[in-house]
Amino acid sequence: GEYRQDLIDRAARDHVLNASEIESLLTDDEAEKALAAAADRVRQEFVGDGVHLRGLIEFSNICRCHCMYCGLRCDNSKIERYRLSPDEIVELADKARGYGYHTVVLQSGEDLQFTAPVLCGIIRRIKAMDLAVTLSVGERSYEEYQAFREAGADRYLLRIETTDAALYERWDPGMSHARRIQCTLDLKKLGYEVGTGTLVGLPGQTPAMIARDILWYQQIDADMVGIGPLIPNGDTPLGKAAPGDWHLTRRMVSLLRLLLPEANIPATTAMETMVPHGREVILNSGANVVMPNVTEGDFRRKYALYPGKICVADTPADCRACMGGRIRAMGRFVAADKGFRHHGRRRQ
Ligand code: SAM
Ligand code: SF4
Ligand code: FES
Repeated sequence: GEYRQDLIDRAARDHVLNASEIESLLTDDEAEKALAAAADRVRQEFVGDGVHLRGLIEFSNICRCHCMYCGLRCDNSKIERYRLSPDEIVELADKARGYGYHTVVLQSGEDLQFTAPVLCGIIRRIKAMDLAVTLSVGERSYEEYQAFREAGADRYLLRIETTDAALYERWDPGMSHARRIQCTLDLKKLGYEVGTGTLVGLPGQTPAMIARDILWYQQIDADMVGIGPLIPNGDTPLGKAAPGDWHLTRRMVSLLRLLLPEANIPATTAMETMVPHGREVILNSGANVVMPNVTEGDFRRKYALYPGKICVADTPADCRACMGGRIRAMGRFVAADKGFRHHGRRRQ
């Protein structure tokens, strides 16, 4: 008990732990509340009480990859595929701005119909609306990442999923872990704010691996870290896998805040899919970002990474009002700025 609290206090003060210390807290059920409380204080101290809302546009569910857990994998014939047009994407961004979002996240499967020139045209039109643009379209060449950046993209989300190369290549067959690391470093070099993260609960993943994930996020100075539990999808090869451990994921969020105090850390949709009001719990455990869906109509349902996805019957306006109310009810507020990554403690 005392040793545990000493570790947590030290992490909250120095933002440093070694791999075995991280692992001991990750696996300690009884540490969860104290970890969350310490992470909540560090969150307050470094990034404040503002919650940044990012409007998520799921613009295509077409994907060339075979990730064994994901409903968008190209081998899944059960899913109804769609692709929005550039005009439709820009129109959703404009509506997102109307709801008061300051960032849009453009996310899709690895859909190569969206060539660099097509995506650059979309990015330029959205940047002209004074929105921050986050891309999440998977692995591309350095030159393509450079073109997106020059067109105005500010941030990029590309989870490493796991830093264990063998585990990664087992569950993302056809993909190379070295290549994914290279993509991450390319994005950093190009001046993006880079988001990475862990898929918690891949079969064979150990707490020691998760501890090494956290140390790698520190090492690359990740600007954003998004983590969520694996939710088994019956239309994929991991359909019968055990779901990721929600509590372990929560402890990982808290440890991330203690060890990367300046990072933007989302309370992810997957956490709420598993536990009602899960995003509030995570916002009180170190997180400071939420990504409400601004995709419209039936496309929400069709962007089916996993079953039980929240908000499939809600509109973008519903989600904006819902999150605004929930954030205020927690005594926090919806941030009015673009929410770039903090450097150093928040100015008082
Ligand atoms: N295609 C891009 C990529 O993979 O980076 C962006 C979209 S991809 C759907 C976004 C994230 O969804 C992945 O990084 C993965 O961690 C997560 N994901 C996919 N299937 C999931 C599942 N069954 N349960 C939880 N998360 C899942
Ligand atoms: Fe495609 Fe991303 Fe799903 Fe992998 S996780 S199948 S790359 S959409
Ligand atoms: Fe979509 Fe609550 S966030 S309805």
